[in-house]
Amino acid sequence: MMHELGKIHEAVAYIRSLYTGKIDAAVILGSGLGSFSEEIVVELSIPYSDIPHFPVSTVEGHGGHLLIGKLSDKAVLVMSGRFHFYEGYGPTEVVFPIRVLHLLGIQHLFVSNAAGGVNPDFKVGDLMVIKDHISLSIVNPLLGKNLDELGPRFPDMSEPYFKPFIQQAFAIAEKEGYAIKQGVYFGVTGPTFETRAEYKMIHILGADAVGMSTVQEVIAAVHCGMKVFAMSVITDLGIREEENIITHQEVLDAANAAAPKLSAIFKQLILAT
Ligand code: HPA
Repeated sequence: MMHELGKIHEAVAYIRSLYTGKIDAAVILGSGLGSFSEEIVVELSIPYSDIPHFPVSTVEGHGGHLLIGKLSDKAVLVMSGRFHFYEGYGPTEVVFPIRVLHLLGIQHLFVSNAAGGVNPDFKVGDLMVIKDHISLSIVNPLLGKNLDELGPRFPDMSEPYFKPFIQQAFAIAEKEGYAIKQGVYFGVTGPTFETRAEYKMIHILGADAVGMSTVQEVIAAVHCGMKVFAMSVITDLGIREEENIITHQEVLDAANAAAPKLSAIFKQLILAT
């Protein structure tokens, strides 16, 4: 059986056979947030299924393409569609693309997601910059033999989200004329949305939002030394006392509505890298 690092190198070699230029940043688009791709002058679109060893995305609302193109003078890679643990991918598969991005030489990673708000001050449609996360109820993607070529056995996680990006995001939002929030993202496996008791627990444990992606990806990115920025669109609220049935459609609709604001922030952060 092929070593994990060998698989990553094969995927990188395939992408490099199609695109040789320097890539300044990578973007992972969450559920309903695909419209960021429209900002990019696309030079190359690679279906995940063409890339050796790449998992294939299954969930509704996810594209399953790797796009490379230009945002003004910056070369940007966009992952339109990501891999979730709840789809049945192992944690090593979920983070496979992140390691490919690293070995493509990409140092800046921008991640978006749809998340449930548990902070009582949040409203549907709010944008939350992730300033920290709680990973203890997901499966850590670094379990098992360490890939020493990528990073250390015991990576520091005191600042997974690059502080200057957070500060710049607030400055951009202010200039654009809208308010954004910041908070702690609590990672869960899904696919069930949380029970009322679980939302309450998540809030008591110190989180502001909860979601089924991002944390494994960020751990793998920090492990290999990438600078990460992540932002959630609050698509539903886990704190209402009244009737509160959450549907995937409601999540997609709220994410679509907030996508232009999120795109503006990602775009300007990338232009400043
Ligand atoms: N919980 C978990 N994941 C989510 C939610 C939620 O309420 N909303 C969007 N993704």
